[in-house]
Amino acid sequence: MKPLNLVHLCIICFSFLLLVTFVTPTLLFQGFNWESCNKAGGWYNSLKNHVDDIAGAGVTHVWLPPPSHSVSPQGYLPGRLYDIDASKYGNEADLKALISAFHQKGIKCVADIVINHRCADKKDGRGIYCIFEGGTPDDRLDWGPWAICRDDTQYSDGTGNLDTGAGYDAAPDIDHLNPRVQKELSEWMNWLKTEIGFDGWRFDFVKGYAPSITKIYMEATKPDFAVGELWNALAYGQDGKPSYNQDAHRNELAKWVQDGGAGALTAFDFTTKGILQVAVQDEWGRMKDSNGKPTGLIGVLPKNAVTFIDNHDTGSTQKLWPFPSDKVMQGYAYILTHPGIPSIFYDHFIDWGLKEEIVKLASARTRNGINESSNVNIMASDANLYVAMIDEKIIIKIGSKYDVNNLVPSNFKIATSGQDYCVWEKQG
Ligand SMILES: *[C@@H]1O[C@H](CO)[C@@H](O)[C@H](O)[C@H]1NC(C)=O
Repeated sequence: MKPLNLVHLCIICFSFLLLVTFVTPTLLFQGFNWESCNKAGGWYNSLKNHVDDIAGAGVTHVWLPPPSHSVSPQGYLPGRLYDIDASKYGNEADLKALISAFHQKGIKCVADIVINHRCADKKDGRGIYCIFEGGTPDDRLDWGPWAICRDDTQYSDGTGNLDTGAGYDAAPDIDHLNPRVQKELSEWMNWLKTEIGFDGWRFDFVKGYAPSITKIYMEATKPDFAVGELWNALAYGQDGKPSYNQDAHRNELAKWVQDGGAGALTAFDFTTKGILQVAVQDEWGRMKDSNGKPTGLIGVLPKNAVTFIDNHDTGSTQKLWPFPSDKVMQGYAYILTHPGIPSIFYDHFIDWGLKEEIVKLASARTRNGINESSNVNIMASDANLYVAMIDEKIIIKIGSKYDVNNLVPSNFKIATSGQDYCVWEKQG
């Protein structure tokens, strides 16, 4: 029996070593855009055709649209939260099949959690829409006007608590200080995990409620990953362009993450997006702060920062704050080589035909073990030239200047390149 035990022990040790050595760094994929709800045959069924390609990029988590019944087709005015069949993206069976297809590839699924506000199903005696229906035969999430913030005077009956965040005009603001609200929303989110198969959360419009509320839902649901959308405007100068110093903007994001309990909680790095989309117009001096670090949230709290180029709001057909469309690959070259958790947008990967180029960058990231807390050494950050070494393993050059001023040592070889960017990796 002894030799067998030793063999078993070795297998266990070896498996453990493998796990420790090859922790896959988190890579997010946004699996929808603003038009996905209109897809003939259903979005869930359509996205299932791309699961292999998404897995091939080394994606670890895919963010899916809000899953519930909603007054607007995109899902951001939800009402009957348990009613998954009424979603415009497909029915509950389609969603479960999609999640199962991702799980088979080892990819976790992130639900878009829209809880700041909620649409009621019926009017009360005053003729105001404030009678909420949960979408089950029982009384789960069947609420009245008591569940609405008192300062949302359009809907409130005057009994709720004051809102802990910004008001939202298009629907009643939910009173998250109410214990029944907290309990029933936590139960619903845990149902999304156990019954539907979700693993993590993307919190919509977190400006609308205090980070201490997010912390309550994080602790009650223990997601494997969570990211919040705290979208504030950058500081602008008199020339109408973003100011060079965006420390206040990124510090707001950092404070939100910390007050929300940090850990698995991250925030979209709107600071990096805003600065980067100006920097790609050959203003690369913007990417280095006074400490020599990256200027976005990744310069202060990289492991809790999710970097991205565009999403269903900033890009897609809404284009509320779009990245310059001809410079998108320079953007990916930056986020896929830098610390933070990069996010790939469906539109760029599938519709724009950038899959191969994005995969090459993502592979260089994985191959060299670049992760959310990798170290950045910015070697040049001038108008038309940005050069940085990450973890002494790869060097990235972005900008229209061709000559890299001998900054790349001879033991670094080109890993991948494209229009105005190049990535080298260390040999041996
Ligand atoms: C991430 O990379 C850094 C720098 O190489 C390393 O020290 C750290 O252990 C890595 N973290 C994980 C979770 O792999």
